[in-house]
Amino acid sequence: MKGKTNIEGYINKVFQKDIMGLLRELPDKSVDMVYGDPDYNVGIKYNNISYTKTFDEYIEWYIEMAEQSLRVLKDTGNMFLINYPKQNAYLRVKYLDKACYEVSDYVWLYNTNVGHSPKRFTTAHRSILHCRKTKDNHFYKDNVALPYKNPTDKRILGNIANGSKGRMPYDWFYFDLVKNVSKEKTFHSCQIPQNLSEMLIKSCTMPRDIVLILFGGSGSEIEVCNILNRQYISAEIDEKYHKMIMDRLKKGHIEEKYKLRLKSYELDNIEAQLFLLEKQKEYLSSNRTVK
Ligand SMILES: C[S@@+](CC[C@H](N)C(=O)[O-])C[C@H]1O[C@@H](n2cnc3c(N)ncnc32)[C@H](O)[C@@H]1O
Repeated sequence: MKGKTNIEGYINKVFQKDIMGLLRELPDKSVDMVYGDPDYNVGIKYNNISYTKTFDEYIEWYIEMAEQSLRVLKDTGNMFLINYPKQNAYLRVKYLDKACYEVSDYVWLYNTNVGHSPKRFTTAHRSILHCRKTKDNHFYKDNVALPYKNPTDKRILGNIANGSKGRMPYDWFYFDLVKNVSKEKTFHSCQIPQNLSEMLIKSCTMPRDIVLILFGGSGSEIEVCNILNRQYISAEIDEKYHKMIMDRLKKGHIEEKYKLRLKSYELDNIEAQLFLLEKQKEYLSSNRTVK
């Protein structure tokens, strides 16, 4: 079903509803960027609610969500979908590769001290699919350029003289997970670090562009849009998270009541773990064969 409404009525609003309902209302080719960090279907509870489906049902839902999102995206737009590699691989092969001009699979790497298994390496990355609807997608290297690794190289000196602000980042990104003690942490169970969403948003939008944040969550990406002067549209199904987002936007900060309350033994635990990590680092560097 095609949306027939005017996009203006949706700008800078966060709806408390199912994203599929919102997507179906939005007009064709009306947003500059789609950013999706959905529930990954791995049993995580959001506010005590689990959205877990069978894998096949999940992929069916994920495909429908991507299909609607591409319809709403302008031809010059970009869509980024964050998920675990298997979910994104199925979505890509079953739908995106045929529907898009090009799909790139980026990797977000992080350190973790959970999820270890004795029979395989520990998962410490997520996949970020970057979907270009057409070859004419907007992409702003200067918004995200990193310092050149060899700035005295003749070719690089030429680039700098010609106004280049730096090199294009690689397609793997290292960003720390949002730690329980971090300033941006709320009681939401699964937040994306704001410096990661900031980079993605800046890479393909300019001030006043419209970003569709599919899943509001803690409001972290919506806050980034506000700070960067991007217009946003978003949906969050859960009432408590929705309230937190609205208060966060109104007040311009996360109120104490929404912060993760750690019990004193949990804080002690974190400190003990940090101490052990430091000790491990010292041990590893003193025993390294290749220095
Ligand atoms: C992975 S979290 C997003 C976290 C967000 N990236 C952040 O940094 O705060 C997914 C969110 O989607 C919400 N959600 C799950 N299913 C939904 C649906 N069908 N429509 C809208 N929101 C949904 C959950 O309540 C949860 O807050």
